[in-house]
Amino acid sequence: MRTIYLDNGATTKIDPKVLEAMQPYMTEKYGNASSTHHKGQEAKIALEDARSLIAKSINAKPEEIIFTSGGTESNNLAIKGLAFANSRKGKHIITTNIEHDCVLNACKWLETQGFKVTNINVDKEGFIDPAKLEKAITKDTILVSMIHGNNEIGTIQDIKSLGEICRRKGVFFHIDACQSYTKTEIDVRKHNLDLVTINSHKIHGPKGVGALYIRKGINITPLAHGGGHEQNLRSGTENVPSIVGFAKAVRIADKGHARQMVKMRDYLIEKVLKIPETYLNGPSGDKNGDRRLCNNANFRFSYVEGEAIGGYLDAKGICSSTGSACSSRSLEPSHVLMAIGLKPEEAHGSLRLTISRFTTKEEVDYVLSVLPGVIKKLRAISSLGGF
Ligand SMILES: Cc1ncc(COP(=O)(O)O)c(C=O)c1O
Repeated sequence: MRTIYLDNGATTKIDPKVLEAMQPYMTEKYGNASSTHHKGQEAKIALEDARSLIAKSINAKPEEIIFTSGGTESNNLAIKGLAFANSRKGKHIITTNIEHDCVLNACKWLETQGFKVTNINVDKEGFIDPAKLEKAITKDTILVSMIHGNNEIGTIQDIKSLGEICRRKGVFFHIDACQSYTKTEIDVRKHNLDLVTINSHKIHGPKGVGALYIRKGINITPLAHGGGHEQNLRSGTENVPSIVGFAKAVRIADKGHARQMVKMRDYLIEKVLKIPETYLNGPSGDKNGDRRLCNNANFRFSYVEGEAIGGYLDAKGICSSTGSACSSRSLEPSHVLMAIGLKPEEAHGSLRLTISRFTTKEEVDYVLSVLPGVIKKLRAISSLGGF
């Protein structure tokens, strides 16, 4: 059976060119980047080239990039590391109610350590009202941490306006850009960013590698102590093959890919919405890919369960998801869908389809030929009423 992979919000396939770039660093160029001999230096050069390339992609300086094991670690380092290093200034952190679990749970843990966390509510499309953010900031606030491009509903926050508020109020601003990186512009200077989390496996790079941008001069307490790698902020021998692959994936990504995905996404959305009593979750009216992630579509179908749709699609070779990959085994309705005001049964009736630049029109057409029949069949046996 052929596979049609529309779960690129969970992870993406490795670009063959990325794999090719990584391979020498797993075979002949295996040195430890901390070793002073020529093998070590060979790895060190690759590591620093990758750092420079990634720094440039967000208008940062190479020394402001710390390599980590991925988005989860970068978010933990940003939030806990900043909280501990700056707790004398204040103990209040602001985040939102549509964060990835790694941010939500890092913040929850900080509450057990004496920090106070405010979760700002988003609007019906998942946007944060700048006035709400401004109002939530107190004298005790040290950090605002928010997801840039939402992994479930695709909402892209207006980081420029939100960053301006944080800078003016003197609080640090962290964004989780795992989903948005390379898909929409991130410029740490223009957008007033202090900390940025990015990872590789959402952009056709390898899993288990990511980075944290830390604006020069910001104090962070490391979570892992050891040999002092990555400017003492993340000890452990650097994963050079994966870092090289990450940088290659960044080098390959370009604006043309995002434009291509916007077109494909909008084609998919337009056709799926023709199914009766079907609605789009998250922002609509996004022509330029700056309000909604270019690869994200999230639908809700009345009277059916997203899990059941996903199962039927899977039987036809189509990979989809009902929400975040981390919580896809949970029976609880998605906290993101609840945050935008959906009822539990509406949240349960939702399905996320996330494309990539490798997704073809023919694949989308195949999905479009299968999906209406699946919905019809499920509605015919639905106990939720309607059809
Ligand atoms: C928005 C967001 N943040 C964080 C993560 C976690 O990243 P990683 O899987 O690299 O730990 C993900 C992906 O799973 C994500 O989508």
